[in-house]
Amino acid sequence: MNTESLFQPFKLKTLNMKNRLVMAPMTRAFSPNGIPTADVADYYRKRAAGDVGLILSEGTVIDRLSSANDPSIPHFYGEKALAGWDKVIKDVHTAGGHMGPQIWHMGIQADHKSGWVPSVEFEGPSGFVNPGQQKGKAMTESDIADAILSYGRAAADAKRLGYDTVEIHGAHGYLIDQFFWDQLNHRTDNYGGKTIAERSRFAVEVVKEVRRQVGNDFAVILRLSQWKPQDYNYKLATNPTEMDSWLNPIVDAGVDILHCSQRRFWEPEFEGSDLNFAGWAKKITGAATITVGSVGLNGVFTDAFAGESSQPSSLEELVRRLDRGDFDLVAVGRPLLADPNWVQKIRDHREDELKGFTAAALAELV
Ligand SMILES: Cc1cc2nc3c(=O)[nH]c(=O)nc-3n(C[C@H](O)[C@H](O)[C@H](O)COP(=O)(O)O)c2cc1C
Repeated sequence: MNTESLFQPFKLKTLNMKNRLVMAPMTRAFSPNGIPTADVADYYRKRAAGDVGLILSEGTVIDRLSSANDPSIPHFYGEKALAGWDKVIKDVHTAGGHMGPQIWHMGIQADHKSGWVPSVEFEGPSGFVNPGQQKGKAMTESDIADAILSYGRAAADAKRLGYDTVEIHGAHGYLIDQFFWDQLNHRTDNYGGKTIAERSRFAVEVVKEVRRQVGNDFAVILRLSQWKPQDYNYKLATNPTEMDSWLNPIVDAGVDILHCSQRRFWEPEFEGSDLNFAGWAKKITGAATITVGSVGLNGVFTDAFAGESSQPSSLEELVRRLDRGDFDLVAVGRPLLADPNWVQKIRDHREDELKGFTAAALAELV
C-alpha cells in the first residue's frame, strides 16, 4: 500500500520533522532514583537512528515531592536527572532525531507494588484516587500555584537543554485529568465546577505558565484523553459543543499541538460521523493534532499490561484518514517499544520483517 503521506515532512515552530511518525510516550521505569541512565539514552538514540520523526519521552515527573508513585520513573528536575536528559537529547540529535520530554505529575495514585511511597502524601484536586475512594490530600491553592510553576520550569529546562518540543501530560487519569473529571474533582473554588470548561482552569494555567517560560516560538504539545483507566468508555466531552468549551480555552492558552489519546484510533468520537478524537479536536480548534492507538497492531495497549501479544495490522485506514486531513501526525507506541527500526520497515515496505508486540518487550530496553 501507499504510505507516502506518512513520510511527508512537518514543520511547526521549533519542530522540524522528516516524517509524520511520532514515538508515543511510554513509561519504562529504568531510571533508578529518577535518573535516566546511559541505557535510557541509548534506547532513544536507536529510535532516532531508526528515522522516527519525533520521539516523545516516557512520562518524566516535575519537582513536586509526590509527583511519582515509582522510584524508577525519571525526574525532569535536579542536577543529576537533567544531566541524564542532556545526554539523551545530545545522542538523539547526533543520530538525526528530534525529541520532546513528556512532563508529568501523576496526581493521586495507588502505591507502587514494591511498597515504595513518596516522602509526602499523594496530592490531587480533592483527595480521591477513584470515584468514591478517598486517598491522598486535596491540593491547597498554594500547592496548585507551585505545581503550575513546576510544569513551567520543566518546560523551560527542556528548551534550555535543546529539546525540540515539550509535551504536557494531561491524559489517562493523572493530575491534570483528575482536575478535568467531576468524579475526582469536587472543588468549590475556581479550580472546580459543574462544567468541563470550569474544571479546565488548572490545565489552562499550566499551559499559560509553560508558554510564559518557553516563549512563543517553542512548540508545545498537550496530551489529552477522554477515557480514564477506571472507565475506557468515559467521555469528558459528550458532544462537539462540550468539546469546544473544553479545548478552545486550552489551545488559546498556548498549545500548538493536541495529542489525542485513544486506545483504537479508528473509533468515532461522536455519533453521526466517523471522525476520531484527533479529527474532532482539529476541526473544532484548528490546532494541529496527533492521533494514536493501535496503529499497525491488532490488539490494544491496555491488554499488553495483562500479558497480551499483538500482531502487525494494515495501515490503510490510518492513511485514509491522514490523507483526508483529519490529523497531522501519528503516534506509535508498542511497535516502537519493541523495534527501533519499525519506521524504516514501514517506509521500505519490509512488512515481512515486522515483529508485532509481546509483553516480554516490557522487561528490557532494546
Ligand atoms: C509500556 C507503556 C507505557 C506507557 N506509558 C505512557 C506514559 O508514560 N505516558 C502516556 O501519555 N502514555 C503512556 N502509554 C500509552 C502510549 O503512549 C500509547 O498511547 C498507547 O500505547 C497506545 O499506542 P499503541 O497502541 O501504538 O501502543 C504507555 C503505553 C505503554 C504500552
